[in-house]
Amino acid sequence: MHSNFELYKFVLLILNIENNMKKLFIGAFALTMLAACNTNEENLVTPDETESLSAGTAERRNCPSEEIRNTALQNSPELMAKYVDIENKTNKFVQDASLGRVLADGTVEIPVVVNVLYRTAAENISDAQIASQIATLNKDFGGTNADVNQIPQEFASVAAGDTKIKFRLDRVVRKSTTVRSWRANDAMKKTSSKGQNAFDPAHYFNIWVVGDMGGILGYATFPESSGLWNDGVVIAAKYFGNTSYAPYNLGRTATHEVGHYLNLRHIWGDGNCATDYVADTPTQQDKNFGTPSYPQYDICGGVSRSIQFMNYMDYVNDSAMYMFSAGQKTRMQAVTATSGPRAGLRLY
Ligand code: ARG
Ligand code: ZN
Ligand code: CA
Repeated sequence: MHSNFELYKFVLLILNIENNMKKLFIGAFALTMLAACNTNEENLVTPDETESLSAGTAERRNCPSEEIRNTALQNSPELMAKYVDIENKTNKFVQDASLGRVLADGTVEIPVVVNVLYRTAAENISDAQIASQIATLNKDFGGTNADVNQIPQEFASVAAGDTKIKFRLDRVVRKSTTVRSWRANDAMKKTSSKGQNAFDPAHYFNIWVVGDMGGILGYATFPESSGLWNDGVVIAAKYFGNTSYAPYNLGRTATHEVGHYLNLRHIWGDGNCATDYVADTPTQQDKNFGTPSYPQYDICGGVSRSIQFMNYMDYVNDSAMYMFSAGQKTRMQAVTATSGPRAGLRLY
């Protein structure tokens, strides 16, 4: 019924899906199941035989789902591939839970590596300053920031609250460099250009803290860069954690950049009335700066809307931004989910 060639094609298919050990294991399991299914075929109870048995007792109940499934899987490589994929992702989810990579309530804890590149003593920021940044990320992403009470009534119903994404400092890598000023060109992410190579970016969220980037407070890669050498966030030392550099002194540059890292776009969609692909953030004409007073109205497509300038993905001062929306939370969870591009970040 199954030629060796067909079996060979199937093995290739399994190998193509993924080539890590766990997935190979599931592939091998699927093959074993196929074999078992073939030899068992004569032993299967046919509908006719079932009918000849006396009906009604619990022992004789028969659920043919698995048998039907086995036949379907044998006959369709596409179905088999989907089955293997589901088992692999389920297995990853179960493993993450048992190893503590996700907390009991489903919160994903992301391990963070902070790479400090310093020229002056001030740029070699203290462990306390690093800790203050991690604490701010956990408050802002947990919806436990002290200024949540400033969210206008109008937006309270769409506030994200707890995004169920947490951050845990795994290690700090410190390196002295002769570079006085950096540009947003990833040089700081390579040892060969006086920077520091990322630490295992497929499994750790890398942050580079650099001395100075001129007018740029920070920048980030998006999830399509997951696991690449340059994947992560860069922040200038003066704006990392709680600092004395108002109005960017509350660690919200990192909150904003981590938003990008987890697939959030600017709330104005980087264009005039453009989209951020989030339904509950009202369309904006442009970015906002400073400390706008509520409400502010933007007209897009002839419709005037009260805008959510207090969102972390706008450009207002640190003290003027204090919320993600529920729609933004959904986008970030899609990225950190077992099936998402940043699933590899589940705590090691
Ligand atoms: N990449 C943006 C910049 O460099 C980050 C702005 C963050 N805003 C803030 N209030 N911290 O301007
Ligand atoms: Zn940005
Ligand atoms: Ca929107």
